[in-house]
Amino acid sequence: MHLTALVLSALALGAAATPVKVAPGPYAESLIDMAGITGRVEFYKPPKCGDAKTLVKYQFDGLTAGDSAPYKYHIHVNPVGENNNCTATGGHYDPHSAATTHTPYTCTPGVTPQDQCEVGDLSGKHGSLAPTAEAPQVSGQYIDQYVKFTPENTIIDRSIVIHNSKGDRIACANIDAVMVML
Ligand SMILES: *[C@@H]1O[C@H](CO)[C@@H](O)[C@H](O)[C@H]1NC(C)=O
Repeated sequence: MHLTALVLSALALGAAATPVKVAPGPYAESLIDMAGITGRVEFYKPPKCGDAKTLVKYQFDGLTAGDSAPYKYHIHVNPVGENNNCTATGGHYDPHSAATTHTPYTCTPGVTPQDQCEVGDLSGKHGSLAPTAEAPQVSGQYIDQYVKFTPENTIIDRSIVIHNSKGDRIACANIDAVMVML
Protein backbone atom coordinates (compact mmCIF):
# COMPACT_ATOMS: atom_id res chain seq x y z
CA MET A 1 0.00 0.00 0.00
CA HIS A 2 1.32 3.40 -1.00
CA LEU A 3 1.16 5.01 2.43
CA THR A 4 2.79 2.07 4.11
CA ALA A 5 5.74 2.51 1.80
CA LEU A 6 5.79 6.19 2.72
CA VAL A 7 5.90 5.40 6.43
CA LEU A 8 8.58 2.79 6.02
CA SER A 9 10.73 5.04 3.85
CA ALA A 10 10.31 7.91 6.32
CA LEU A 11 11.39 5.61 9.16
CA ALA A 12 14.35 4.34 7.14
CA LEU A 13 15.39 7.89 6.26
CA GLY A 14 15.13 8.94 9.90
CA ALA A 15 17.30 6.04 11.00
CA ALA A 16 19.94 6.82 8.38
CA ALA A 17 20.11 10.59 9.01
CA THR A 18 21.62 10.27 12.46
CA PRO A 19 22.08 13.95 13.40
CA VAL A 20 18.51 14.94 12.51
CA LYS A 21 15.70 13.56 14.58
CA VAL A 22 12.69 12.94 12.37
CA ALA A 23 9.60 12.89 14.54
CA PRO A 24 7.29 10.07 13.39
CA GLY A 25 4.34 11.92 14.87
CA PRO A 26 2.08 10.53 17.57
CA TYR A 27 1.74 6.80 17.64
CA ALA A 28 -0.46 4.70 19.84
CA GLU A 29 -1.26 1.04 20.36
CA SER A 30 -3.75 -1.16 22.10
CA LEU A 31 -2.57 -4.56 23.30
CA ILE A 32 -5.43 -6.98 23.85
CA ASP A 33 -5.02 -10.00 26.13
CA MET A 34 -8.31 -11.06 27.63
CA ALA A 35 -10.51 -14.17 27.70
CA GLY A 36 -8.21 -16.09 25.37
CA ILE A 37 -8.16 -13.29 22.83
CA THR A 38 -4.88 -11.60 22.05
CA GLY A 39 -4.24 -8.85 19.59
CA ARG A 40 -2.81 -5.51 18.78
CA VAL A 41 -4.15 -2.40 17.12
CA GLU A 42 -1.50 0.13 16.10
CA PHE A 43 -2.06 3.73 15.05
CA TYR A 44 0.64 5.50 13.03
CA LYS A 45 0.73 9.10 11.90
CA PRO A 46 2.74 9.33 8.67
CA PRO A 47 4.83 12.47 9.35
CA LYS A 48 4.16 14.05 5.97
CA CYS A 49 0.40 13.75 6.31
CA GLY A 50 -0.06 16.11 9.25
CA ASP A 51 -3.11 15.10 11.20
CA ALA A 52 -5.08 14.20 8.07
CA LYS A 53 -4.45 10.48 7.96
CA THR A 54 -3.78 7.65 10.37
CA LEU A 55 -2.47 4.27 9.35
CA VAL A 56 -4.16 1.56 11.41
CA LYS A 57 -2.77 -1.97 11.61
CA TYR A 58 -4.56 -4.75 13.48
CA GLN A 59 -4.07 -8.39 14.32
CA PHE A 60 -6.24 -10.63 16.48
CA ASP A 61 -5.87 -14.23 17.62
CA GLY A 62 -8.29 -16.41 19.52
CA LEU A 63 -11.51 -15.19 17.94
CA THR A 64 -13.50 -18.32 17.22
CA ALA A 65 -15.25 -19.01 13.94
CA GLY A 66 -18.91 -19.96 13.99
CA ASP A 67 -21.88 -18.36 15.73
CA SER A 68 -19.83 -15.73 17.58
CA ALA A 69 -18.42 -14.38 14.29
CA PRO A 70 -18.23 -11.94 12.68
CA TYR A 71 -16.78 -9.64 15.31
CA LYS A 72 -16.87 -5.88 15.48
CA TYR A 73 -14.35 -3.62 17.18
CA HIS A 74 -14.56 0.00 18.13
CA ILE A 75 -12.80 2.80 19.93
CA HIS A 76 -14.75 3.41 23.11
CA VAL A 77 -14.81 6.68 25.05
CA ASN A 78 -13.21 5.61 28.33
CA PRO A 79 -10.33 3.37 29.33
CA VAL A 80 -10.93 -0.15 30.65
CA GLY A 81 -12.27 -0.26 34.21
CA GLU A 82 -10.90 -2.12 37.20
CA ASN A 83 -10.66 -5.91 36.88
CA ASN A 84 -10.81 -5.77 33.07
CA ASN A 85 -14.27 -4.22 33.14
CA CYS A 86 -15.20 -3.61 29.47
CA THR A 87 -18.54 -2.07 30.49
CA ALA A 88 -16.65 0.81 32.07
CA THR A 89 -15.34 1.85 28.65
CA GLY A 90 -18.68 3.53 27.96
CA GLY A 91 -20.03 3.97 24.44
CA HIS A 92 -18.41 4.32 21.05
CA TYR A 93 -16.11 7.29 20.61
CA ASP A 94 -18.29 9.66 18.59
CA PRO A 95 -17.01 13.23 18.98
CA HIS A 96 -19.13 14.55 16.10
CA SER A 97 -22.35 12.87 17.28
CA ALA A 98 -22.74 10.79 14.10
CA ALA A 99 -25.00 8.30 15.88
CA THR A 100 -27.58 10.96 16.71
CA THR A 101 -27.15 13.13 13.59
CA HIS A 102 -27.62 10.27 11.13
CA THR A 103 -30.51 8.12 12.36
CA PRO A 104 -31.07 5.28 12.18
CA TYR A 105 -27.32 4.95 12.49
CA THR A 106 -25.62 2.56 10.11
CA CYS A 107 -22.03 2.48 8.95
CA THR A 108 -21.16 0.00 6.22
CA PRO A 109 -17.73 -0.26 4.57
CA GLY A 110 -17.74 1.13 1.06
CA VAL A 111 -21.34 2.31 1.38
CA THR A 112 -21.63 4.90 4.14
CA PRO A 113 -19.56 8.09 3.74
CA GLN A 114 -17.04 7.83 6.54
CA ASP A 115 -17.79 11.29 7.87
CA GLN A 116 -21.25 9.92 8.71
CA CYS A 117 -19.74 7.16 10.83
CA GLU A 118 -18.71 7.39 14.45
CA VAL A 119 -14.96 8.07 14.57
CA GLY A 120 -14.64 5.02 16.82
CA ASP A 121 -16.62 2.68 14.57
CA LEU A 122 -13.55 1.05 13.06
CA SER A 123 -15.30 -2.14 11.88
CA GLY A 124 -18.18 -0.12 10.45
CA LYS A 125 -15.80 2.01 8.41
CA HIS A 126 -13.26 -0.67 7.51
CA GLY A 127 -14.84 -4.09 7.92
CA SER A 128 -15.73 -6.67 10.57
CA LEU A 129 -13.43 -9.44 11.73
CA ALA A 130 -14.36 -12.78 10.17
CA PRO A 131 -12.06 -15.59 11.36
CA THR A 132 -12.61 -19.03 9.87
CA ALA A 133 -11.57 -22.45 11.15
CA GLU A 134 -8.85 -22.48 8.50
CA ALA A 135 -7.72 -18.90 9.16
CA PRO A 136 -8.32 -18.15 12.85
CA GLN A 137 -5.97 -15.16 12.92
CA VAL A 138 -7.34 -11.97 11.42
CA SER A 139 -5.17 -9.05 10.45
CA GLY A 140 -5.13 -6.09 8.13
CA GLN A 141 -4.40 -2.42 7.74
CA TYR A 142 -6.06 0.68 6.40
CA ILE A 143 -5.93 4.45 6.34
CA ASP A 144 -8.46 6.29 8.48
CA GLN A 145 -8.97 10.01 7.99
CA TYR A 146 -10.93 10.65 11.18
CA VAL A 147 -8.80 9.07 13.90
CA LYS A 148 -6.95 12.02 15.46
CA PHE A 149 -4.33 12.78 18.08
CA THR A 150 -5.01 16.49 18.51
CA PRO A 151 -5.59 17.30 22.19
CA GLU A 152 -9.31 18.01 21.71
CA ASN A 153 -9.90 14.87 19.60
CA THR A 154 -7.34 12.35 20.75
CA ILE A 155 -7.96 8.60 20.82
CA ILE A 156 -5.19 8.14 23.41
CA ASP A 157 -6.33 6.91 26.83
CA ARG A 158 -9.53 5.59 25.35
CA SER A 159 -9.95 1.87 24.55
CA ILE A 160 -10.54 -0.80 21.94
CA VAL A 161 -13.51 -3.10 22.55
CA ILE A 162 -14.23 -6.29 20.59
CA HIS A 163 -17.84 -7.42 20.29
CA ASN A 164 -19.13 -10.82 19.17
CA SER A 165 -22.03 -11.14 16.73
CA LYS A 166 -24.53 -10.75 19.59
CA GLY A 167 -22.94 -7.45 20.59
CA ASP A 168 -21.39 -8.75 23.82
CA ARG A 169 -18.16 -7.05 24.87
CA ILE A 170 -15.78 -10.01 24.84
CA ALA A 171 -12.40 -8.25 25.17
CA CYS A 172 -11.04 -4.76 25.63
CA ALA A 173 -7.77 -2.90 26.17
CA ASN A 174 -6.58 0.66 26.58
CA ILE A 175 -5.13 2.75 23.77
CA ASP A 176 -1.75 3.90 25.02
CA ALA A 177 0.55 6.54 23.61
CA VAL A 178 3.86 5.17 22.43
CA MET A 179 6.82 7.48 22.02
CA VAL A 180 9.02 6.35 19.16
CA MET A 181 12.46 7.96 19.07
CA LEU A 182 14.32 7.68 15.79
C1 LIG B 1 -18.15 -2.26 35.54
O1 LIG B 1 -18.32 -0.90 35.19
C2 LIG B 1 -19.67 -0.49 35.19
C3 LIG B 1 -19.74 0.91 34.60
O2 LIG B 1 -18.76 1.74 35.17
C4 LIG B 1 -20.23 -0.59 36.58
O3 LIG B 1 -21.58 -0.20 36.61
C5 LIG B 1 -20.11 -2.02 37.05
O4 LIG B 1 -20.51 -2.10 38.40
C6 LIG B 1 -18.68 -2.53 36.93
N1 LIG B 1 -18.65 -3.95 37.20
C7 LIG B 1 -17.82 -4.49 38.07
C8 LIG B 1 -17.90 -5.98 38.21
O5 LIG B 1 -17.03 -3.83 38.71
